[in-house]
Amino acid sequence: MSHDFLAQVSAILDSKYILIEEEEKAPYLTDWRKRYTGKALAVLLPATTEEVAAIVKLCAVTHTAVVPQGGNTGFCGGATPDSSGKQVILNLKRMNQIREIDAANQTISLEAGCILQSIQEKSAEKGFLFPLSLGAEGSCMIGGNLATNAGGTNVLRYGNTRDLCLGLEVVTASGEIWNGMKGLRKDNTGYDLRDLYIGSEGTLGIITAAVMKLYPLPISQWTTLAATQDIDSTIALLNLFQQRATSLLTGFEMMTKESLALNEKHFPQMANPLKENPPYTILIELSDHESEEHVKQLLEVILEEAFETGLISDAVIASNLSQANSFWHMREHITLAQSQEGANLKHDITIPLSSLDRFIRDTDALIKAKYPGVRIINFGHLGDGNLHYNIAPPDGEDFKAFNLANEKPIHELIYGQVELCNGSISAEHGVGQLKLDGLRAHKGEVAHELMKTLKKALDPQNILNPHKVVSI
Ligand code: FAD
Ligand code: MLT
Ligand code: ZN
Repeated sequence: MSHDFLAQVSAILDSKYILIEEEEKAPYLTDWRKRYTGKALAVLLPATTEEVAAIVKLCAVTHTAVVPQGGNTGFCGGATPDSSGKQVILNLKRMNQIREIDAANQTISLEAGCILQSIQEKSAEKGFLFPLSLGAEGSCMIGGNLATNAGGTNVLRYGNTRDLCLGLEVVTASGEIWNGMKGLRKDNTGYDLRDLYIGSEGTLGIITAAVMKLYPLPISQWTTLAATQDIDSTIALLNLFQQRATSLLTGFEMMTKESLALNEKHFPQMANPLKENPPYTILIELSDHESEEHVKQLLEVILEEAFETGLISDAVIASNLSQANSFWHMREHITLAQSQEGANLKHDITIPLSSLDRFIRDTDALIKAKYPGVRIINFGHLGDGNLHYNIAPPDGEDFKAFNLANEKPIHELIYGQVELCNGSISAEHGVGQLKLDGLRAHKGEVAHELMKTLKKALDPQNILNPHKVVSI
């Protein structure tokens, strides 16, 4: 069968785009965190929607499972094949054309393999902002962003990837092409297929193109770091900015003392410019379409109020673009510092802001009591209630041994607290294979069964990224 598949796929793709040698396939077989490694019959690199459709048709006929892949920066093992060596990886990096920037409609139509940063740059050249922004933007692709419904640092103002998408082109499990590439802001024509595919992590269809929203480029941006002593004041600070700056507030990121200490350990040039690395360092960004002066004054007034009411103890406003970038780099380097340190246990969770204080207080206390000396690396998109509540073993302890012994009970403890607070066990990274088992309990029986019904209806042969998100 596998021999048949390879013989037939060569009628669709030039042989240089069918990777079958081990060394050629290797970069596609392991995820970014090096947590999962699989095997694949082949890595296929199509350049057109028609090629994707022909490949999926062939997969359907030969019962070959297909794992879609973009930039392979996902955190849940969704783009990594299993260990059977029978699955094929369909990497969309050659589908990287921008089809149209429609200035009047304020939309961009583009192929799934476009790299996020290049979309931001191409949009800016035409005077538009494409607001999706995340640490992996130099290599993640819009198809992957849509498939995971990625979040990032601008969600507070512009929403998740889902909120930025108006239309999709999708290859279905039978190899048909659904053209839903309409740039409409209103379209109530029955079930929303677009929303079904967004966030489905390659389990319901292959996203080949999309129509995304564009926004006017802000004229000025001001970035500040502020020191808070506890999470209560941090939330009060967020509420103050939401009240005073309303839609000008485009970023509100939280970094704990421990997160920034780890950063400094691995990247000494990234030391916290605030005095004595306070318990919480908050990165706040305001963006404006009026003058530089207008937004700067507003920022100063709000910070002054925050000082006077005791919400913050220190603040530094970036004096130029390069300093603002250095604040953002400090925030984005925490993920890199963690991966330099070792394979920590990740928890990408959302908690209602009103329960965040309770979650952190209770969970910190439980973790510290049960696992003395462990390091809680807690940071995230606080404006969205999204924490990256990651756990590393005590300094000097072996990561592998610690994780092997404690991964399951630590996940259970933390996710138990998430449930108590009515939160989510996956805020923005998705489910993939990492959270497959935990999903049934988290969604509840009814929702989980509905998900299975959808999967069976749209992919009856279970060939699209099987055993990711939901198993049937
Ligand atoms: P991949 O990793 O290749 O794939 C992810 C999933 O989507 C897989 O299940 C895959 O099968 C599926 N898929 C990929 N392309 C398609 C397609 N065309 N059609 C159907 N299914 C497809 N994520 C956030 O949300 N917010 C962050 O702030 C953030 N920061 C990050 C920082 C760093 C340093 C890194 C390494 C990652 C970060 N991520 C973040 C995670 C990751 O970048 C996102 O999940 C991103 O959206 C994945 O895109 P990708 O192209 O790399 O997808
Ligand atoms: C980020 O926000 O930097 C990534 O989503 C976080 C992570 O490393 O968990
Ligand atoms: Zn994040």
